Amino acid sequence: MRELYEKPSIIKLETGYLNKFGSSPLYSRKVRADIDGVAIDTLVERYGSPLFVFSEKELRTQYQRIHRAFSNRYPNVVSAWSYKTNYLQAICAILYQEGALAEVVSEFEYDKARKLGVPGHSIIFNGPYKRRSILEKAVREGAQIHIDHLDEIYDLEEVADELGTTISVGLRLNMDTGIFPQWTRFGLNLDSGQAMDAVKRIHAGGKLILRGLHAHIGTFILEPDAYAVAVSKMVQFGYEVEERFGYTTEYLDLGGGFPSQSKLKGTYLPPDVAVQPIEAYAEKITDALYASLRPGDFPKLILETGRAVVDHAGFLIATVFAAKRLPDGRKAYVIDAGLNILFTSFWYKFNIELDREVQGVNEPAMINGPLCLTLAVIDEGTLLPPLRRGTRMIFSPVGAYNVPQWLQFIEYRPNVVLIGQDGSVEVIREAETLEDVERQERLPERLRLPTDGSV
Ligand SMILES: Cc1ncc(COP(=O)(O)O)c(C=O)c1O
Repeated sequence: MRELYEKPSIIKLETGYLNKFGSSPLYSRKVRADIDGVAIDTLVERYGSPLFVFSEKELRTQYQRIHRAFSNRYPNVVSAWSYKTNYLQAICAILYQEGALAEVVSEFEYDKARKLGVPGHSIIFNGPYKRRSILEKAVREGAQIHIDHLDEIYDLEEVADELGTTISVGLRLNMDTGIFPQWTRFGLNLDSGQAMDAVKRIHAGGKLILRGLHAHIGTFILEPDAYAVAVSKMVQFGYEVEERFGYTTEYLDLGGGFPSQSKLKGTYLPPDVAVQPIEAYAEKITDALYASLRPGDFPKLILETGRAVVDHAGFLIATVFAAKRLPDGRKAYVIDAGLNILFTSFWYKFNIELDREVQGVNEPAMINGPLCLTLAVIDEGTLLPPLRRGTRMIFSPVGAYNVPQWLQFIEYRPNVVLIGQDGSVEVIREAETLEDVERQERLPERLRLPTDGSV
């Protein structure tokens, strides 16, 4: 193969890549020739590039590890799958098979779970926007509804009247757990007395029965102690509610928020140092439960983990399309995957592996996607050897939030495949075509262009 030649240029020497907190990517860049034994080349040949690849083995292993971390420490643990994190049917079906309830936050997600075959009584319904029609359907089908605001109490009371029944509900709480910024937009505030007022209102109405408490304190929470604070506040609140209004807290739902081993942009420490293992979270949470619950009380502990379950099961294979030198001397690559399909590149600095050994001097390179949009930078600067067109980059972990948040913008959305535990590969979402994208468009007859191109 011909040597790559590039006209020499003067580049400012960047220091600081190697430091006491972590090794230089110069020495740690890995070659990845396969995912779960299936060659990257084979995957791209068959399904194209860019390509999302999910590993069933990794997904099941991660789910089981998280569930086990809690159920080994506490006797009454229920896991739920947060649909918004990734609602591809195959992913949701695998997690349902593993025993996770469905946690949904909208009519769309609710319908998706039901269509997949999840019964209403296996659905937890969170979210701030549940219209009357979907509330009514969810109540009829036995879903567990978590109240987000006072208006929802009134709506549910109307539904109770209409159906001539009382409705079991949970209450969403937000509170100060010592982390910043504090999430206050969802649920009712515990510290200010707002949540207790809501319970008072529920009690006065006499149509709803409070059965559980829910708090999703944030996402990518790096401090396990924050959960311990939430647990003890929730338990205390539950006992106060029981004393004043007679409702027993049958479950405590801690939402999600556990981090994956991804690297947040702007953080210095590598994820294996910055992110504590899930067992450390389980230990803090269950310690806090035992410290605050009355002896003999074991309310159900529900976890709605999203990111930490699926992130590591997802990879994105992309291909180098062009290399260029920017006026400031920086190397830049154009690859076929951009912000359009990798939305979390706003926050994450991904692990990037190459499909082959590449000789040559490493230098910081910017990675841009195919979009004609200045914002669409996947990585501002990562050390890479000189890459030829056609080199594959494998980004990970990308299993959480990218597929549900991707955009059909400028480019089509690509194939998504699942590698089964036996090594088989199946398409779980087909790449878009022009027909797919235009399916909902309607061109008024008077605007139809003549086929010969005349105006
Ligand atoms: C109510 C609720 N539960 C669970 C999750 C999952 O969160 P994570 O992916 O951080 O685990 C979310 C995500 O925002 C959420 O809003």
